[in-house]
Amino acid sequence: MKGKLITFEGCEGCGKSTQVRLLQEYLQTTNQQFLMTREPGGTKISEKIRSIILDKDNKEMVDECEALLYASSRCQLLKERVLPALDRGEIVIIDRYYDSSFAYQAYARGLGYDFVAAANNFAINNAQPDITIFFDIDPYHAFLRKGGADSTDRLELAGMEFHNKVYNGYRALMEKFPQRIIAIDASMSVDAIHNDVISLLKSKGFIQ
Ligand SMILES: Nc1ncnc2c1ncn2[C@@H]1O[C@H](COP(=O)(O)OP(=O)(O)OP(=O)(O)O)[C@@H](O)[C@H]1O
Ligand SMILES: [Mg+2]
Repeated sequence: MKGKLITFEGCEGCGKSTQVRLLQEYLQTTNQQFLMTREPGGTKISEKIRSIILDKDNKEMVDECEALLYASSRCQLLKERVLPALDRGEIVIIDRYYDSSFAYQAYARGLGYDFVAAANNFAINNAQPDITIFFDIDPYHAFLRKGGADSTDRLELAGMEFHNKVYNGYRALMEKFPQRIIAIDASMSVDAIHNDVISLLKSKGFIQ
């Protein structure tokens, strides 16, 4: 792989998409070649898989099926778009990648690390990110920011417990992969976080 694979991770509302957009603007204005995409989705087939995963009528879906569908969607995105872009030497940024499967399916749903690791080994065939930025803000404050007080009122206790497990899952992943996963304090202002993202990626030599 000649290019660099950069992934953005964190809890719901931590600011991933906001920062993806700012990084995209930065790369455009500095004339750097990149591919920006998101998971699950990013290809016609992956978007169809996404709709199966998110379909509210699929109540009987078991956790293993969910994890395998995410892996299938990821595999298609990787082979159809990400690997060719890396071969062309481009910077590839994905809004969520396999760490989301570890945080959500392995840790929060309780499927376990080994199951998710095995499924993803099939799916990604060793396409590890060069760096993963973890936007570090706890779910309570992220939710407050995302929807304001109204939406936090509607959160059920089980919902918040689940999201806390996701957050703790991410923290466990950071301890497991300290070289690859770098945290940025996501409670700061949008601009301060963007500056940290740019400095970090420049310091690694991944962007100019
Ligand atoms: N640093 C910040 N300070 C204050 N508000 C922010 C900050 N970053 C993002 N927001 C706001 O928080 C909300 C969620 O941000 P965003 O959609 O970027 O998060 P996300 O991580 O992509 O969420 P999701 O996981 O749901 O896709 C948006 O309304 C956004 O404007
Ligand atoms: Mg988002």
